[in-house]
Amino acid sequence: MNNFSLHLATKVLFGQGQIAHLASVIPADARVLITYGGGSIKRNGVLDQVHSALKNYTLFEFGGIEPNPTFETLMKAVEVVHNNKINFLLAVGGGSVLDGTKFIAAAADYVGETWDIVASGGKSVTKALPIGAVLTLPATGSEMNAGAVISRKETGDKQAFHSPYVLPRFAILDPLTTYSLPPRQVANGVIDAFVHTMEQYLTYPVDAKVQDRFAEGILLTLIEEGPKALKEPENYAVRANIMWSATMALNGLIGAGVPQDWATHMLGHELTAMHGLDHAQTLAIILPAIMRAKKTQKWEKLLQYAERVWGIDRGTEDERIEAAIKKTEQFFQQMGAPTRLSDYQLDGSSIPALIKKLEEHGMTHLGEHGDITLEESLKIYQSAR
Ligand code: NZQ
Ligand code: ZN
Repeated sequence: MNNFSLHLATKVLFGQGQIAHLASVIPADARVLITYGGGSIKRNGVLDQVHSALKNYTLFEFGGIEPNPTFETLMKAVEVVHNNKINFLLAVGGGSVLDGTKFIAAAADYVGETWDIVASGGKSVTKALPIGAVLTLPATGSEMNAGAVISRKETGDKQAFHSPYVLPRFAILDPLTTYSLPPRQVANGVIDAFVHTMEQYLTYPVDAKVQDRFAEGILLTLIEEGPKALKEPENYAVRANIMWSATMALNGLIGAGVPQDWATHMLGHELTAMHGLDHAQTLAIILPAIMRAKKTQKWEKLLQYAERVWGIDRGTEDERIEAAIKKTEQFFQQMGAPTRLSDYQLDGSSIPALIKKLEEHGMTHLGEHGDITLEESLKIYQSAR
């Protein structure tokens, strides 16, 4: 196992009815800006619950944070923060609202060009407003991690930044809030959490048994519960297991002390930025292509994945690995996400432009060995057609 340092500082309030306890986690004298997306929290009653939990607070609202939150929209929220002397941000929604709120928090008192927050990968951030989260879409893990992904319309960029200053102080996870999710977002969430787990698991063995078995437990849970969530949207136990899986998939725990490979996400971000595919839709296309392209480097973990997650223990090693990749594709398809670019009417003609964007963003040595060069990424995109 590799050395690591781990500090999981987000307080989690999990379960039905927890939104009512918001006042126990926000300072009483806070001037709170509630940030949200396109209005789902108004339709499903979550915003009303937040208001009744915080009826003695000074509250402001900023809505309209879009999926794949944009710099342009978020800068308007920064103005609201300044004009109203906001000192606490409460993000209510999915990963986009949470990520967007992290950017607002970092940008509020930022000195210099605000896009540098993202361009520097978060390194230039030295302070941020405190954030809390009420999550309504289990997927990204943003509620308990220090990362955010921000898009910029003007330039067609979609890039991540990380800063300990934007880690949410608390996360309220009430599975009931997820009952109103449309099937496509249920699928997106399950696939995103699945791929986060894979990217911290499917590399090479370092004898990290706890991390491996936690990761396998998350994968097995998502495979078991994902399809059920589509069939039984109001099954509390199913929703609860998916919600906790998604948080655990990207809160730092399973990634501590193990090699990681975020190439699927990096290649996927460019697809979203250029073609507007949902984040998880891109992952369902790219992950199987990377599993095949990096088969040799990931050989041992692929065999372990095949056996422990899919119960595949017959056939040659090559056959077992290919069977596990097929199972992975079938799982994504079963959730409703196609696994080819052509399924989205993309013929591959934009691949050179995607590679150019990767280069611009410094994504030239991806993967756990840093050996996914631009040439390799080109082959991966091509094989995903
Ligand atoms: O905007 P509203 O009206 O709220 O509707 C949203 C949105 O249209 C809807 N939704 C959310 N909760 C709902 C609901 N609809 C009904 N009922 C509910 N309970 O779902 C739609 C998608 O929401 P979004 O927040 O965009 O989805 P998700 O949580 O998948 O977030 C995706 C974003 O997170 C980034 C992605 O790149 C993408 O920009 N990521 C962030 C990460 C992180 N911070 O660690 C890691 C991830 O890998 C990912 O890259
Ligand atoms: Zn993701």
